[in-house]
Amino acid sequence: MLKSERPIGIFDSGLGGLTVLKAVRALMPAERLVYFGDTARVPYGAKSKSAVVSFSREIADFLFAKKIKFLIVACNTASSLALEEIREISPVPVLGVITPGVGAALELAPRGGKILVTGTAATVASRAYTRALQAARRDVRVTEKACPLFVPLVEEGWCSKPLAGLVAREYLAAFRGRKIDALILGCTHYPLLKKLIARVMGPRVKIVDSALATARAARLELSRRGLLNPGRSRGECEFYVSDAPERFSSLARKLLGLKTGEVGVKRF
Ligand code: DGL
Repeated sequence: MLKSERPIGIFDSGLGGLTVLKAVRALMPAERLVYFGDTARVPYGAKSKSAVVSFSREIADFLFAKKIKFLIVACNTASSLALEEIREISPVPVLGVITPGVGAALELAPRGGKILVTGTAATVASRAYTRALQAARRDVRVTEKACPLFVPLVEEGWCSKPLAGLVAREYLAAFRGRKIDALILGCTHYPLLKKLIARVMGPRVKIVDSALATARAARLELSRRGLLNPGRSRGECEFYVSDAPERFSSLARKLLGLKTGEVGVKRF
């Protein structure tokens, strides 16, 4: 098999990374994809760096054994806390979700602009977004806000329930009058609440979906390396989780309209 015909590996702590998988699939339909969701150990957002590094390395090793050509860390928490540690052991190029999200936000923020980053508690505590944004553009002003209840709301399938609106307003209403230019959805679950978040923030604030930005960055990187799959037919997707495959499959269908077929289980 040509190297370019090998699959792309994508992993997340659970099902949020499917927002990235869906964007990758839409942009590069010929690519074969292998997805891993660590459903036994989700959420990562409340865990320590050493736990997230060790989980991420185990998953990366599992995906390397599937002969992937490229790895996407489709989890903001793992991208914030473990990207370097994954790269140290990786035989293939590794892309996280932070750099693409930062690039997309900077395209939208004017000179001296204000960017609000939303994410899990661990992502926000790491300040990975602030560092990356200010390393690229020192003029931007960055505020980060942890929104931990967004993840269970999404996992419960409650994105359009009134409770989701209450929670979003509680977290975000204080930022409405603060002339925010762009809000980064710094967690792979949050694109599923994009419309709600946009409504709470008002029409002036541009919402940055790092799933789309990551898919674009992956295509650019694969093309630069001559690794884009040249096939014309649709590449197949394989799905694995560390627990509860039926629940994963049914949420994937309900929340993202994705048909996973049979989901494999790999316990660590
Ligand atoms: N996928 C994680 C992220 O993007 C959110 C869920 C979790 O806390 O594990 O940060």
